[in-house]
Amino acid sequence: MVVLGIETSCDETGCGLVDGEFRVLGQSVYSQAETHARFGGVVPEVAARAHLEKIGPVFRAALEETDLSPERIDVVAYTRGPGLLGPLLVGSSFAQGLARSLNKPVMGLNHLEGHLASAYLTNPKFEPPFLALLVSGGHTELVRVGPNLEFTVLRQTRDDAAGEAFDKSGKLLGLGYPAGAEIGKLAEHGRRDFIDFPRSLMERGNLEFSFSGLKTSVLRETQKRNPETLLHERADFCASLETAIVDVLIAKTLWALEACGEDKLIVAGGVAANSYLRQRMSDLAKREGIQLCLPDRKFCGDNGAMIAAAAQKRLQLDKWPQQGGATAGLRWEKTTT
Ligand code: KG4
Ligand code: ZN
Repeated sequence: MVVLGIETSCDETGCGLVDGEFRVLGQSVYSQAETHARFGGVVPEVAARAHLEKIGPVFRAALEETDLSPERIDVVAYTRGPGLLGPLLVGSSFAQGLARSLNKPVMGLNHLEGHLASAYLTNPKFEPPFLALLVSGGHTELVRVGPNLEFTVLRQTRDDAAGEAFDKSGKLLGLGYPAGAEIGKLAEHGRRDFIDFPRSLMERGNLEFSFSGLKTSVLRETQKRNPETLLHERADFCASLETAIVDVLIAKTLWALEACGEDKLIVAGGVAANSYLRQRMSDLAKREGIQLCLPDRKFCGDNGAMIAAAAQKRLQLDKWPQQGGATAGLRWEKTTT
């Protein structure tokens, strides 16, 4: 079975072809980051137009990496939601049109399920049940994945996502958009205890996240300094900020592991590319005897291969997603445990 995955929920146009053993046969991702950088964030209308322009070439580039003809595609999978409406419609229309022309079935999937499926691309033997920490630009949540792909959101963020905390702080520090990767690099040479940024909701066992206080604190600290001092102290600022975010992610992941008794963990989403987070998660896993899956960095950010992988997993478990609604394909059950 060869599955084509199409991702267009935000500002990356991605296509990936994945086989039944979760091997990536070909993939291509076009990032619109530069287009949106001058606006300091993603502009939905601009994103939709860029997807429209790039989806054809990105699909062809992914296909050309394989030696397959389009007829060899068995299922066309695409991100159905959540995400920006215009961009989602581009991916959906492209997927439906292609599937119809090839006379193949089409599967609409939840974007977050795609992020979690990046685990299988890195380690095909990594099977549910497991706990997932999903950290991206739009989401920060702890999700429990059952043996038959039952997804239960344990807790999520009250306000900003972890990626948003990086990006908004980066803006205050005069960095480009998105700022996460740049902050991670600068932090390598900075002092982690330079500023004691707030860590919110840290009562033991509290799995909810909040990063808006951190952003306010970064604003206050930047306002205290003149631009020259700020530039001089940038690495220390970044290291302290990164440490504050990662401390919270580590503590809550540990509490979630304790609460649900899982011994397998995956960290997924764009922020999972962060080296310091990966190091701290590896330490945690070693200490607690947890089997950890850190997806390859190229599968952390939005891409089509992860959508194809999610579809493959569903085909293997015979769990064709229910259709209907923007987030169909995945029932995110909320729980208060
Ligand atoms: O998953 P993703 O590509 O898009 C969403 O679905 O949101 O995540 C993008 C987010 C951005 O906020 C970006 O700043 C962050 O991931 N990010 C990082 C790193 N690389 C990307 N954050 C921290 N460290 C990184 N190395
Ligand atoms: Zn994403």
